[in-house]
Amino acid sequence: MRDDEARCQAHRATLVDFTADPRSAGAGARRHLADGLLVVREGRVEQIGTAAELLGRLGPDTRLIDHGAALLMPGFVDTHLHYAQTDMIASHGERLLEWLQRYTFPTERAFSDPEHAREVAGFFVDELLRNGTTSAMAFATVHPASVDAIFAAAEARSMCLIAGKVMMDRNCPDDLRDTARSGYDDSAALIERWHGRGRLRYAVTPRFAPTSSDDQLRAAGQLLDDYPGVYLQSHLAENADEVRWVAELFPWSRSYLDVYERFGLLRERAVYAHCIHLAEDDLGRMAGSGAAVSFCPTSNLFLGSGLFDLERATGAGTRVGVGTDVGAGTSFSILRTLDEAYKVAQLGRAAMSPLDAFYLATRGGARALRLEDELGSFEPGCFADFVVIDSGATPLLARRWAQARDIDEKLFLLMTLGDDRAIAQTWVKGRCVHRRAAAGGDAPAAPPVARARPR
Ligand code: GUN
Ligand code: ZN
Repeated sequence: MRDDEARCQAHRATLVDFTADPRSAGAGARRHLADGLLVVREGRVEQIGTAAELLGRLGPDTRLIDHGAALLMPGFVDTHLHYAQTDMIASHGERLLEWLQRYTFPTERAFSDPEHAREVAGFFVDELLRNGTTSAMAFATVHPASVDAIFAAAEARSMCLIAGKVMMDRNCPDDLRDTARSGYDDSAALIERWHGRGRLRYAVTPRFAPTSSDDQLRAAGQLLDDYPGVYLQSHLAENADEVRWVAELFPWSRSYLDVYERFGLLRERAVYAHCIHLAEDDLGRMAGSGAAVSFCPTSNLFLGSGLFDLERATGAGTRVGVGTDVGAGTSFSILRTLDEAYKVAQLGRAAMSPLDAFYLATRGGARALRLEDELGSFEPGCFADFVVIDSGATPLLARRWAQARDIDEKLFLLMTLGDDRAIAQTWVKGRCVHRRAAAGGDAPAAPPVARARPR
């Protein structure tokens, strides 16, 4: 039997996760067990503690998996990205509105072919896992079969995925356009097929206000009322030209946020990407509604959209997670994303601590998605979704790691110097779904090899 097929496993390693938000609870929110044991039963965390305390108490059916000097953290949560934009990542030279016309719409058109959707979805999900991301909220395209493809790919890997069909009935090419009616009907059919199946959830997905008529935004609100528990995902206040365009298209509106609010789209389980150009009172309304913001630094820098003010948003009480926003974002790696988030904060004269960063990438992301009880930490009862971090992934990381005085310094090195090479393994629901090869290509997922413990 493979180690990851054991009903009960005990993973010995350095363990780091969060029991609360370090911004409010301080450094004590970070749990650090230098020689820890994570006990997993049937895909969920059963117990967490020190090896000294738990090793002697393991049952005879428990498989002990020793990860040596590796660091185990909860799998990363990507709160916003577009699976259909995988093949247009790193497209040169435009800002948001021109970028959509020049690259995005032509790329998304290809998803009218279900076979193409299936192939891209498989690559996309494997790329998430290769980068240590075990849960994500993703846009598909306007085509219902594109949603079937991404949910099927996630289901095959037991991942938690929230996704939805793009609703878009104006200001887009004819062959990517639905209607208020067909957008409602297609979304409803997908909700009935996928929402709540295993670890999958549906998100009603109006692309952004400029590409939906009043009728379609109303239909999106109707879906949320008709199917309690489904999510909403969209874009908000990303780019200055976009904000001006929304003011022209909805002349009655007080602000961009007001448009979504008027149609009943500002509520719990709504996740809005970007929110860079939002007034103070709108951030307050956002917080009060229970909606969340996805902070997408690599995308915001790549498209020249602006600098998100994390302090202002969290200060207003808004739930915030991080998103790669692939393909405007330039990396699938949450580590690369945290690096850029830190630099964005620096430009705003607010240094982001490594604790704040990794909280956003794990428990904070889960909270933004209202899945804190299921994932994002090592709390007993959560799914055993975690990454095995190799601090020796590159010579420079190994060298700086050896000089680090404490775990917080190590976490900062990891987010500044780390990328997919640092993800030695990714586990989902107690199964190893990615295992990095020593050199060259990745090995198929397989049980880890126990190493000596150079502590
Ligand atoms: N606004 C509307 N559509 C998109 C998209 O696909 N990507 C980004 N970054 N912003 C958008
Ligand atoms: Zn996006």
